[in-house]
Amino acid sequence: MEPVIRGLSRSPYAPCPPELFAGREPERVRIMETLSLAREAGQVAMISGKAGSGKSSLLNWATGAALPGGEEHLSVHREFYETTDMVFSVYRDILTAIRQSGPAAAGSDPAIRQASDIVDRYVARIDPVGLLARVGEEIIGVFADVGDVPADRVLSTYPAAIKAFGETMSRNGGVFVLLLDNLEWAPEPDLLLTLELIRQRPPGIALVLACDSGDRLRYPQVLEALRGVRGTEIRLGGLEAPGVGDLARRRFDRAVPDEVSELLAHTIADPLGLMVFFALAGWRGLTLDEKAVRVLLPELRNPAASIYAEAEPLQQGRAKTLAVLNPPFHPAVAACMLTEERMSLSEVETSLPESTLFRSVGRHGYDFAHPLIREYCTSLVPEAERLLLHGRAACCTERFLERLPGRQHALVSLVRHLFSAGEYARALALSHELGRRYYEVGAYDTARILARQAVVSAEKTESSDARAAAEELLHLILRATEGRADGA
Ligand SMILES: Nc1ncnc2c1ncn2[C@@H]1O[C@H](COP(=O)(O)OP(=O)(O)OP(=O)(O)O)[C@@H](O)[C@H]1O
Ligand SMILES: [Mg+2]
Repeated sequence: MEPVIRGLSRSPYAPCPPELFAGREPERVRIMETLSLAREAGQVAMISGKAGSGKSSLLNWATGAALPGGEEHLSVHREFYETTDMVFSVYRDILTAIRQSGPAAAGSDPAIRQASDIVDRYVARIDPVGLLARVGEEIIGVFADVGDVPADRVLSTYPAAIKAFGETMSRNGGVFVLLLDNLEWAPEPDLLLTLELIRQRPPGIALVLACDSGDRLRYPQVLEALRGVRGTEIRLGGLEAPGVGDLARRRFDRAVPDEVSELLAHTIADPLGLMVFFALAGWRGLTLDEKAVRVLLPELRNPAASIYAEAEPLQQGRAKTLAVLNPPFHPAVAACMLTEERMSLSEVETSLPESTLFRSVGRHGYDFAHPLIREYCTSLVPEAERLLLHGRAACCTERFLERLPGRQHALVSLVRHLFSAGEYARALALSHELGRRYYEVGAYDTARILARQAVVSAEKTESSDARAAAEELLHLILRATEGRADGA
């Protein structure tokens, strides 16, 4: 069976495709070991490291290259995005991938179907159905009433389904490899489910996770669960000199003298920095020697700024406009945002991933090639202009609302744009309503943002009753997250 590979793109600053992956021999061996042991007993490994250390790239490699051939395997690779409003979207998608995986899924089908049903009903509170009704100027979500599904039901039903699937796989001599990237951005319910899966370590399953070690909230929790089951942490530091040479050869087709590789391993070492170094050296026609390292080193303090500076002006303009959108963004919304260019949907779909600044993700989504690039582009847009862009983003999101695949995400994005555009009267009711719903499903990060928006919107519109209600909601949310390690 062919493994499912997702999330690859052509941008050099996006995670590296498996066939171009360089160095990291000991880490690759540890991943191979994890996969081969999973046939006997469930395995958990976590790739950790700071931003740009190559976690997503190693995960790509693990998806595409590490499965032993000739047997029934399935690997599913998904990532969490910077926005925490897509509750269980990754986990619903995993069930779909399992169901589509063919005969191997058949033995566990009832369990998988039951898990899908429970998760669908759990997220119904935040997942609007059908159209959005309009009452005067206000937009309200239409939600189905499917009764109360407690979080515990999800935490028991989902792992049971995965376990049933793992057992079917291992009976056929195969392994189910589940690779999850960017755990630091998992919505809270998704994090709890991940922790549960780690604790249960279902047989026949290799769970390979990636998490930013700088994250103060989710990383320590995952690490603790991992230690509880004697899982493996694969901590990524900088590349060693041979890895540096390998990266230059594979990704830039350039040979680096050994002493320069040594120097780079001591001065830059982190893969994102190295990528920018070799790209800059190439653009400027520099010989790869000590002088080039000295000249370029100051520019590598802010790799995103260097990447931006080398992009074409047209792409720079697009990046500044699209930086207000919540990732992943839909091409229809992007085309609408870039209104002056009058781009068609297919033009957006071909031109964005060709730029060094963007990458395509999933089936119909785009994101910045690296979050640091979005952050940098956002910083370049003056406050007043950003306000106008949010206004445009609100119009564009609203126009395509019914066509956007992730309705939770679309609605939260819409209300965020309305709020950031200063359209407080329109943002008020929806912020409160969604805030309450996200609170009820335990997605506190999103709930908190929405409740704060509701408080400010009520202040700005001088609605004292609405303000009291929003403050009460915010208080509940803060109480639920009291004592959290990130102090949020
Ligand atoms: N071993 C490698 N071989 C070749 N290129 C690599 C390797 N590791 C990382 N890269 C490149 O380095 C950059 C950063 O890598 P990646 O996105 O995987 O890091 P990350 O740790 O996932 O970052 P973040 O924490 O921001 O998600 C990308 O341009 C990627 O293509
Ligand atoms: Mg990453």
